Amino acid sequence: MTQDTRAQQLRQKSTRYLWMHNRDWIQMAEEGEPMIAVSGEGVRVTDSEGSSWIDVNGGYNSVNVGYGRTEIADAAFEQMNRVSYFPNGTTTEPTASLARKLAQITPGTLSRVFPVSGGSEANETAIKIARAYHKRRGDAGRYKIISRVGSYHGTTAGVLWLGGTPQTQRADFEPAYPGMVYAPAPLPYRSEIEGETASECAIRCASAIEDIIRLEGPDTIAAVIGEPVAVPLGAVVPSDEYWPMLRDICDRYGVLLIADEVINGFGRTGKMFAMEHWDVVPDIMTIAKGIISSYLPLAAAIATEEVAAAFAGEEDYLRHVLTSSGHPVSAAASLKNIEIIESERLVDNAARVGAYFKEQLEGMSGDHPSIGDVRGIGLLVAMELVKDRETKQTFAPEDRVADRLNESFKKRGIILRTAGPVINMGPPLCITESEVDEIIHALDLSLWELEGELGMAQYA
Ligand SMILES: Cc1ncc(COP(=O)(O)O)c(C=O)c1O
Repeated sequence: MTQDTRAQQLRQKSTRYLWMHNRDWIQMAEEGEPMIAVSGEGVRVTDSEGSSWIDVNGGYNSVNVGYGRTEIADAAFEQMNRVSYFPNGTTTEPTASLARKLAQITPGTLSRVFPVSGGSEANETAIKIARAYHKRRGDAGRYKIISRVGSYHGTTAGVLWLGGTPQTQRADFEPAYPGMVYAPAPLPYRSEIEGETASECAIRCASAIEDIIRLEGPDTIAAVIGEPVAVPLGAVVPSDEYWPMLRDICDRYGVLLIADEVINGFGRTGKMFAMEHWDVVPDIMTIAKGIISSYLPLAAAIATEEVAAAFAGEEDYLRHVLTSSGHPVSAAASLKNIEIIESERLVDNAARVGAYFKEQLEGMSGDHPSIGDVRGIGLLVAMELVKDRETKQTFAPEDRVADRLNESFKKRGIILRTAGPVINMGPPLCITESEVDEIIHALDLSLWELEGELGMAQYA
């Protein structure tokens, strides 16, 4: 069988049997998709036809150490050969060692680790911990969770109702989960207040959370959850006032602060954890993705000693079981992944190459009237495209911006999918400046094409 026929057959199997994320199988079949990835190294993957692609999305902002790290595969293999799972009520060496390692590298007294399989489970766990914590302390009325518009915290039936963007389509899954309360996103570019500075926006949005707590009644609020640098609206880095203010507000009203570092963690923003940019220690931190660079499923919710103390004691333990929680094979792979992040100084690389990436994107703005804003930190960068830079007017659905861009990126050998005019980029942290140059070149050509097709070129 030729390579082409085999690839064709695999594509047919996928479009016939596989239920892929957020895609329509009919459209995929018509467009000759999906691409079948067969190997990967660093920031590149090779498909079944032998073409090489740069993965600008880094999986789902998740392949932090890059593809092809055989040491991680070896660690998983060795552990699976040694002991593949654990009898009920026991644990294993890599699971205990990983918990200790996570306690060492996370800030402050974050140290009690509940391992799970993915970011959604980690946030479900965090919310259960927050609610149960208040009950343990005799504060049974606290069940509401404040989240911010423009954040994403997962897809399972509870956390689906946290955050969200104006484009989030949750109607299929109603009724909404009770107790969800929403606060504004600290995104100055889209502030409704004319001329508001980044700092004013941060202070207003943090104060809005205090107002919500007072309005709802502090004794009804269990926690505030947020991504330190929120992704869905495009790498929203709040001004420096925001997180310390929010920490202070939570402390004053006895509300727990949950930092969702599912994307941010493990070096993505140029610090091991994004909250370190502001020296803020949350009460619970959720981590996933970079914890294992997506080599296997793994995530965790980590609580501070103070929060965990409420669960010590025979009557008080957390009632929460997931079969794959603490899986030793994932734990062994994760330990090796963290060792690579540390020994190859990938956090520093993310800070340095990320700054270069952002600079190049900003440089492109001069040539491209469609670039409204460039934002981000480390290797979490984003561009917001607009129809008119002066008025910040967004594109109309009939402009088909996302479809045009996705087709254009594909033509130019980069894996970069966007759902709208905000293009988020989160490549592996091992990326080099010359690989960034390749991405910039592909983006440059794609934007010329888009602007030409939409008749925007004359504004340049
Ligand atoms: C910030 C954040 N939290 C939670 C999740 C959910 O993680 P998962 O897809 O592993 O369930 C994601 C996924 O992209 C995320 O970006």
